[in-house]
Amino acid sequence: MSTKGLLPDGYVHSRRRPSSLLRPVLLTTCFLIVSLTLLSTNYYAITVHRQESRRLQQIPINAQQILQQCSSLRETPSSTSSLTRLREVSDRFEPGTNATLIQNARIWTGRENGTHVVEGDVLLDGGIIKEIGHIPQDLWVDAENLTIVDANGAWITPGLVDLHSHVGLLSAPFTRGTFDVNSPNGPILPWLRSIDGFNTHDESFTLAIAGGVTSAQVLPGSGNAIGGQAFMMKLRKTSERSPTSMILEPPHSLNGSRPDPDAPLRWRHLKQACGENLKKFGTRMDAMWSFRWAYSQARKIQHAQDMFCARAEAGFWNDIYGQEFPEDLQWEALVDVLRGRVKISNHCYEAVDLDDIVRLSNEFGFHIASFHHASEAWLVPGVLNRTFGGPPAVAVFATNHRYKRESYRGSEFATKVLAENGIPVVLKSDHPVLNSRYLLYEAQQAHYYGLDRHLALAAVTSTPAKAAGMEHRIGVLRKGADADVVLWDVHPLQLGAKPHQVWIDGIPQLTTAKPKDEDEERQEAPSVPNWDKERKTAVAWEGLPPLSPRRIKKGKVVLKNVREVWVREEHGIKERWSARPGQEGGTVVLNDGLISCVGREGWCLSGEDEQFALSIDLHGGSIGPGIVTYGSRLGLEEIDSEMSTGDGIILDPYSEEIPKILSDTAGLVRAADALQFGTRNTQIAYRAGVTYATTSLSKSSLFTGPYSLISGLSVTFRTGANHGLEHGAIVNPATALHVALVRPHPFGSGGVLPPVSVSTQVAALRRLLLNAENHDTETGKWFKRAAEGIIPLVVDVHSADMMATLIQLKADIEEWRGSRMQLVFSGATEAYILAKQIAKANVGVLLTPARSFPGTWDQRRALPGPPLTDATALEILLQHGVTVAIGVDENHQPAHTRFEAAWAALNTNGRISRQKTYELITTNVEKLFGIEGWFGEEGDLVLYDGGSVFDLSSKVVGVASPKKNAVELF
Ligand SMILES: *[C@@H]1O[C@H](CO)[C@@H](O)[C@H](O)[C@H]1NC(C)=O
Ligand SMILES: *[C@@H]1O[C@H](CO)[C@@H](O)[C@H](O)[C@H]1NC(C)=O
Ligand SMILES: *[C@@H]1O[C@H](CO)[C@@H](O)[C@H](O)[C@H]1NC(C)=O
Repeated sequence: MSTKGLLPDGYVHSRRRPSSLLRPVLLTTCFLIVSLTLLSTNYYAITVHRQESRRLQQIPINAQQILQQCSSLRETPSSTSSLTRLREVSDRFEPGTNATLIQNARIWTGRENGTHVVEGDVLLDGGIIKEIGHIPQDLWVDAENLTIVDANGAWITPGLVDLHSHVGLLSAPFTRGTFDVNSPNGPILPWLRSIDGFNTHDESFTLAIAGGVTSAQVLPGSGNAIGGQAFMMKLRKTSERSPTSMILEPPHSLNGSRPDPDAPLRWRHLKQACGENLKKFGTRMDAMWSFRWAYSQARKIQHAQDMFCARAEAGFWNDIYGQEFPEDLQWEALVDVLRGRVKISNHCYEAVDLDDIVRLSNEFGFHIASFHHASEAWLVPGVLNRTFGGPPAVAVFATNHRYKRESYRGSEFATKVLAENGIPVVLKSDHPVLNSRYLLYEAQQAHYYGLDRHLALAAVTSTPAKAAGMEHRIGVLRKGADADVVLWDVHPLQLGAKPHQVWIDGIPQLTTAKPKDEDEERQEAPSVPNWDKERKTAVAWEGLPPLSPRRIKKGKVVLKNVREVWVREEHGIKERWSARPGQEGGTVVLNDGLISCVGREGWCLSGEDEQFALSIDLHGGSIGPGIVTYGSRLGLEEIDSEMSTGDGIILDPYSEEIPKILSDTAGLVRAADALQFGTRNTQIAYRAGVTYATTSLSKSSLFTGPYSLISGLSVTFRTGANHGLEHGAIVNPATALHVALVRPHPFGSGGVLPPVSVSTQVAALRRLLLNAENHDTETGKWFKRAAEGIIPLVVDVHSADMMATLIQLKADIEEWRGSRMQLVFSGATEAYILAKQIAKANVGVLLTPARSFPGTWDQRRALPGPPLTDATALEILLQHGVTVAIGVDENHQPAHTRFEAAWAALNTNGRISRQKTYELITTNVEKLFGIEGWFGEEGDLVLYDGGSVFDLSSKVVGVASPKKNAVELF
């Protein structure tokens, strides 16, 4: 490819010949310069005959440009970064932005690895931080239009930095027209640039800012070995409204210009990937060869440039007479990699992949700035340390693991282990894989599982900023840095922390901010459990530690220092006992897993009893009913993308012929028949207090839509059971009938189902519920039961319009049959719009997920909740008397259901009581699935050490199971 005029660092040299009049002058000048150069230049390692140097050299007219260009090849962004020099005003300053003084704050600056905290003020002006700490009045008292904000002692952090996002490349709500993530055009595409597909109309910008995220690295997808160039973007809308104006420090290569040659060179960014995602191009071996081939192309060009320049700088112009500067637009980005000018973000999971890329980095001599996902990085710190130029940062999810084989050994303890090994830890969203709005929740969870508090906050601010080469501007609060600041309602590591205000480039982003949370306790970082033992075991077992209970105790178990006891009642749950503030914790006696006494120690125990019993100190902990999870594929599949670990995909009666052997129109099947016990996801959920699950065969993802429209019968089971024949293992083998009502998926071929119109789906549903099929068939039998209200009918549906249709359908069926259906909407993002009608129609709602996201067209009216709206969908539904429960989507999520519930409640500013919150994940689920009261006194009880079910300070230490006549301890 011809690349005339564009040099690797972005200089443009003119290809126009100067007018003939000017030529002699230029020639003389060039000759002089060359002579000077000749005197001062080392000879490099070029082989030239000595006599040749004495021959007359034919100096090209653009010799000066060539020499300038050659000298610039030695620059790197780090070599030129006197970047911290103080600016008076930011290049991103929007004229008209008022100065802001935030007073009386606790300022977490992000400096000194996150340990630096200042109490005082922050002055924002000109798009930068003018002053921080104690700011004398004379510095601001005369400022015009100064906004003064009293933080009232609340926390301030730098704006959060998301090192891995696809915001703008996959814009919400998703449509076919806005998918610009991966190119299908081969494994090696360093010439592509994410900015070229960056859509400014993405709901996620506003949402992410509402979570305190102010900048993000927008990466091409991981479907290619070299997927293209990435860009650091600020998420606020600019007055120009263009993608370009959102780029933070656009590299000069973007448009081939470098306005000020003395200005520091800017970092470029590149996305690489390895492992499973490249299987479409062959094996791992093929992928690595494609890398080596690509870098050898770049290396040839780099060498050619160096030889060319060595000759020019030595004045051997005859050697390069008539030659152009060697370059190629397709490879220039990789040449810049080899010249140390590019921050590479490398998607890489397993030890084999990390090792491959580290080998590559050493073979070609380039650094990797950050490994992403990197599920096994924590197991191979030695490999990371061998990376050319030092260990990369490692950007992981806190708890999203096991979704593919590569992430099977991912661990919630990984961040702490990496930090212990001196590896910089980053937490990222991979938006929209995780909603980037909740990037901070990743830090909260990492902290919960042991990452030090200063590193947990650094992992979403200063560490990613550094990994992207942007620490001179973002991710830290210091004089001269960009004015990207978040004022939080509570300590940012507390669950539910929300911005009170977010400034980007000094511009406030929120209009409906609520005042600081007055709960002083939540202004401090949470104290979290100790996981040292679990972490060490996890490392010893290479990420797959044994998960079965450590001890099973029959007979008497005495729990001491208990502050709360919650139990199931006939209709809901209640607090059976709690210690009053200041009062000592109480004692609970369990007999064969059943509570036999609750109260003060002396009352429950005689000395003799104590001798024979196992006694456990819960350190101010609590006891409560086992949580019930719904929505994921828990127990049906272990690894989402490995069909060999699951049930497979059920037949689709709309597009496939159901095999004759079933003799059943819809091919209705039962989840109970495919249930697996003892999977890691199930055991991890059990150890987290989620002792029951209702699982259906319906499977859906944001990126593919549902896998089936009629998903058969769900099963309710006990997650801690060893097999299906164990006593109490199967709670209900046919819990509910499940169908989906969805629009065709926007990603066309990415969707797994051929599109079936909504009207067709409703017509089929109407027909089936109106007794159309023979009752001897599975389809006929179960749809009849659903129509008669004997079994709940659960419909996966997000659109309020479709819910309205379903409510009407329910009324029609009931009138026709004289029955009362048990209809439940699952998903139900837009249900709040119809809260009144849903309540009136006696329809239940399984809100999945509880914190919604406008991912699809049907979810576009998702209610964002605070700080963007005062109300949340959950609260509106509860206010109208709808029975609501919280569901989750993915197999890793059940284990954190209690924190989901805590978030949901905190988002309502305490307007939902603790009891109601508890019911969202226990008895309300049971109510909706028609198994209310099934557990009763025989239901599992979870033992929490160090706090209540909703606290980050607590840890599940055991489950008391009356059905098993035992207490299982972890
Ligand atoms: C920050 O952490 C790194 C890695 O552990 C360490 O080398 C460095 O000295 C620390 N810096 C400060 C200021 O604590
Ligand atoms: C102060 O605000 C007024 C009204 O918006 C504006 O006209 C003026 O330029 C501002 N002054 C400065 C220094 O920004
Ligand atoms: C700046 O301050 C002036 C004076 O207080 C005010 O009139 C104006 O609305 C402010 N501008 C913005 C963008 O907030």
